[in-house]
Amino acid sequence: MKRPILIHPDPRLKKVCAPVPEITDDLRRLASDMLETMYDAPGIGLAAPQVGVLSRLIVLDCVKAEGEAPRPLVMVNPEVVAASEETRVYEEGCLSIPEQYAEVTRPSEVELRWIGLDGEEHHEGFGGLWATCVQHEIDHLDGKLFIDHLGAMRRQLITRKMIKFKREQARA
Ligand code: NI
Repeated sequence: MKRPILIHPDPRLKKVCAPVPEITDDLRRLASDMLETMYDAPGIGLAAPQVGVLSRLIVLDCVKAEGEAPRPLVMVNPEVVAASEETRVYEEGCLSIPEQYAEVTRPSEVELRWIGLDGEEHHEGFGGLWATCVQHEIDHLDGKLFIDHLGAMRRQLITRKMIKFKREQARA
């Protein structure tokens, strides 16, 4: 079932999310809803706070090539355990900040640890778009948006546009 995506500014997008204590049926349902919501948007990643759940859970799938098999990943309590010194600049967007994009610099490779829906601990290294996306999503779990990586002027400009966008949506 698709869930509504919160739009910035929203106090729930600024919160540090709580670790998930155990894998329950509710959590599995949430993960499946989040994947459906993400694919439908369409987007390549979604964090639980974006659907109003303040838990450390993200979903992503950065396979973009036509004809390539999808790779939906669900990460519970994800953590960056190592990051490269080398960085990568990517023009990021966010489903909670529609139609706004800006270049963000992040480590180009990261090593991650997370718990899967199978309850097992997973370790894997990510590069390219996967590395960018997973860091963007983990930021959400700490109440941080991609615009928090920008200068104050740019951030305020985008926030003002979003306030206007929300006001127009409420009227429609
Ligand atoms: Ni986002």
